[in-house]
Amino acid sequence: MISRRNFLRGVSGVVAATGAIRPLLAWATDSSLLIPGEDGMIVRSARFFDLETPPEFLTSWITPVPRFFVRNHMHEPSTLDADSWRLTISGEVEKPLTLSLADLARLEKHTVTNTLECAGNGRGFQQPHVPGIHWQKGAVGNARFGGPRLRDLLQRAGVKPTGKHVMFHGLDEVPGKVPPFIRSIPIEKATDGDTLIATQMNDAPLSKHHGFPARSLVPGWIGAASCKWLSEIKVLDKEFDGNFMKPGYRFPNQPVKPGDAVNPDDTHVVTALNVKSVIATPVDGSTLKSRSIHLQGVAWAGEADIARVEVSTDAGATWKLARLDHEQAKYAWRLWTYAWKAPKAGDYTLMARATDSQGRTQPETAVWNPSGYLYNAIDRVKVHVQA
Ligand code: MTE
Repeated sequence: MISRRNFLRGVSGVVAATGAIRPLLAWATDSSLLIPGEDGMIVRSARFFDLETPPEFLTSWITPVPRFFVRNHMHEPSTLDADSWRLTISGEVEKPLTLSLADLARLEKHTVTNTLECAGNGRGFQQPHVPGIHWQKGAVGNARFGGPRLRDLLQRAGVKPTGKHVMFHGLDEVPGKVPPFIRSIPIEKATDGDTLIATQMNDAPLSKHHGFPARSLVPGWIGAASCKWLSEIKVLDKEFDGNFMKPGYRFPNQPVKPGDAVNPDDTHVVTALNVKSVIATPVDGSTLKSRSIHLQGVAWAGEADIARVEVSTDAGATWKLARLDHEQAKYAWRLWTYAWKAPKAGDYTLMARATDSQGRTQPETAVWNPSGYLYNAIDRVKVHVQA
């Protein structure tokens, strides 16, 4: 992890060395690009923008866009003109389409409040460590996404009976020999009434970091399903098998131990999110001046609903129900709180575990896998309570 100050020093060095000021200026209206890490975000990678939300910000029902994590596998498009941008729909369809932003705006708009979580969120807690960005708690956010339903676009194009999967291709600038970010989802999820071609986030046009002018929004599924800077939709007769589908974003079918060789044919594509909760405050390692402590956090479960969140203030010996906030929506996280009076001064381990409507409960230890996907172990923070 690098600090914001070092990051900015690094950016100005790169700009001076390469004259790369132009792409930055092309997006000058997007202030969050000019100062990545603004608003206290953790800069996980400077080469591509990868920003994590600090845990203490995970306390609002809707995550403000400047505090919403950013995950980029490669460079963001350096220029994108809303007037000349086009979205094509081709492949196994009767009538290939080319649509402008104005065409999308003419279609019925649908809004979905969705918790978007990166499959690698929590990877930094996997033991032993695995390669990849060491996200901790904050590669997750909850936003209101708006735009036409993908189903309506597919209906206009007329999917042939051979159309079984829907592929998304974004306009990322691909460095060197890196394969482009292309992924696909099954036709059943693509035609679900909540799967969108989102043009809005929190009631404003998508920002550059989050995929302007349009992205797919595949609710309840890992963030990678929701392709940013979308330019091409292609209906396929089978699952797309490029790098970001295989070997990327796959989970072993059988339990594996660190060091085991995993046969890619004995893995499956990661789709829906796990049940998970995190403690937002107090933050790990904090010293608390009062014995009256307000625990707060969020809990989510992908396509399922949160049934309950339990809190332990004695390192897991006993558990009590947390209070779930009234705000709720399918695919969205629940805010939770727990008011606790520490019996005396001292060191405490606070824990939170969620259970969902499918009966899944967070485990003590997450299922280890070579890419560190879907980490959802019971969250814990250590605090010191002063007298
Ligand atoms: N879409 C494109 N075109 N390029 C990307 O690198 N990253 C994916 C997804 N869509 C990505 C993408 C991943 S891994 C995640 S977790 C989400 O975008 C993150 O969305 P956000 O940056 O809006 O939070």
